[in-house]
Amino acid sequence: MNILIIGGAGYIGSHAAREFLDNGHRVTVFDNLSSGTRENIFKDEEFIYGDILDYSELLRAMRGSDAVVHLAAAKAAGESMLKPEKYSRQNISGTVNILNAALEAGVKNIVFSSSAAVYGEPQYLPIDEKHPTNPENYYGFTKLEIERSLAWYERLKGVRFAALRYFNAAGYDVKGRITGLEQNPANLLPIIMEVAAGMRRELCIFGDDYDTQDGTCIRDYVHVNDLAAGHVAALDYIDKNNTSITVNLGSENGVSVKGMLEIARRVTGKPVPSKIVGRRPGDPARLTASSQYAREILGWQARYSDAETLIETTWKVYRK
Ligand code: UFG
Repeated sequence: MNILIIGGAGYIGSHAAREFLDNGHRVTVFDNLSSGTRENIFKDEEFIYGDILDYSELLRAMRGSDAVVHLAAAKAAGESMLKPEKYSRQNISGTVNILNAALEAGVKNIVFSSSAAVYGEPQYLPIDEKHPTNPENYYGFTKLEIERSLAWYERLKGVRFAALRYFNAAGYDVKGRITGLEQNPANLLPIIMEVAAGMRRELCIFGDDYDTQDGTCIRDYVHVNDLAAGHVAALDYIDKNNTSITVNLGSENGVSVKGMLEIARRVTGKPVPSKIVGRRPGDPARLTASSQYAREILGWQARYSDAETLIETTWKVYRK
């Protein structure tokens, strides 16, 4: 298929692009490089520098595509509570443009990078797709709004979509083909790596008084190569079955902040100084996925999402 990957120069987008190329698809990346980097553009794909808020540019890029994979979004939950206007513009308005351009260009398949942030504070664990959605931050709200629009466009216009609810994306390409660093990362693993690499003084652990074994928050970290494989499988599924899906992608493994830090110290051989600071607002104590649905319908399973592989593949990029 001809696939337009919007946000394909970014962290997850570049891994998805590589996976589509490896599976024999033709890939065009559309990206404004606001958080992505040229370093993440492959020789065997086409690149269009453009912004999703520019409708005509988007429409031009979309023509001739069989599918759109949309990963262009602002994703820092904390920032979204301070700058909702940035998140509504980039995430909601940007996606409305993409949906309308897809309709006008006759592109029927849309793969959308959603997030476990749509669930909010867990009512039970592990979280499956039937869990109520009640986002705790504005970022999660934007993802849920987009999922709802996708469902309406499906009903009214026959658009097919796969909404992929990622848990905590981490790791780097296991074959070492992607080396672009995220600018100003806000997530745990890149921050630990920046400390290990001497780019940052210490890791601030946001609270050690949670109701968990070591007092720090537990998350479900899933390797980007696994996420990338999920995109290819999901597109294949909605195309072949002429249906839409909303599916979790998580490793089903919970790792605490201190647990991740300990493994990172061992893998990197660096001391990685840390200090305990206050809780970060909106952080649930535990978040783990059920990926049973993805296993059943997509035959998808996390292969690289153990903490060692996540850290080893990331450290290979950061140590340079
Ligand atoms: N953490 C720290 N110190 C830091 C950064 C993070 O202690 O400097 C802790 C957080 O408090 C949390 C854990 O590490 O307990 C993971 O935090 P991240 O910021 O890496 O990730 P989140 O769980 O907050 O959110 C991530 C993505 C969201 C996505 C969510 C889905 O950033 O976009 O996973 O589970 F919605």
